[in-house]
Amino acid sequence: MCRARRVDITEQYIFEDRAAEQRRLDAQSWLFDPLTERMLREAKIGPGMRVLDLGSGAGNVALLASRLVGPEGSIVGVERDPEAVITARERVHAAGVTNIKLVVGDVQTLDGIEEEFDAVVGRLILMYLSDPPAALRQAAARLRPKGIVAMQEADLASTGRHRRRRCGSRSVAGSFRR
Ligand SMILES: C[S@@+](CC[C@H](N)C(=O)[O-])C[C@H]1O[C@@H](n2cnc3c(N)ncnc32)[C@H](O)[C@@H]1O
Repeated sequence: MCRARRVDITEQYIFEDRAAEQRRLDAQSWLFDPLTERMLREAKIGPGMRVLDLGSGAGNVALLASRLVGPEGSIVGVERDPEAVITARERVHAAGVTNIKLVVGDVQTLDGIEEEFDAVVGRLILMYLSDPPAALRQAAARLRPKGIVAMQEADLASTGRHRRRRCGSRSVAGSFRR
């Protein structure tokens, strides 16, 4: 039986142990990266673009996008958890990548992000927000005219029976702990 615990997602991200979460995101990346890369290519993310990555986590999407935009392009990743930003910066540095800037911030306000971007990307971020439209509005306000928005999310509503649906996020968290 699912014993869902109420989590206030305005204050808290459901995966509380940050070191474990960074490892989980990295493992998950093996599964998602080919799909994410295909989505980014189909969205026409390409050389020279300035890209905003929402909820950058361990930095995997930013790293993917940085390869597509090349040395003339750049990525700004926004992530709410300062610890995540520190470890993601270390990974980016270790990979020798110089066109990614990772900053601590809330994607629902994007305070402090003043640049204009050619594209906004994100993976598995809107589904964790209390106000996803606010994040998209803030992101769109920082896009150049005809800029690109490319988001990849999980559709938990189509994963099975009603009871599983209600507990979707907790089930995902639990399965990675096991
Ligand atoms: C499931 S992870 C996805 C990370 C990354 N996009 C990936 O696919 O590897 C979601 C990330 O969004 C971050 N996050 C959650 N709410 C946020 C918010 N309001 N503003 C910025 N980041 C947030 C979490 O801390 C977490 O690192």
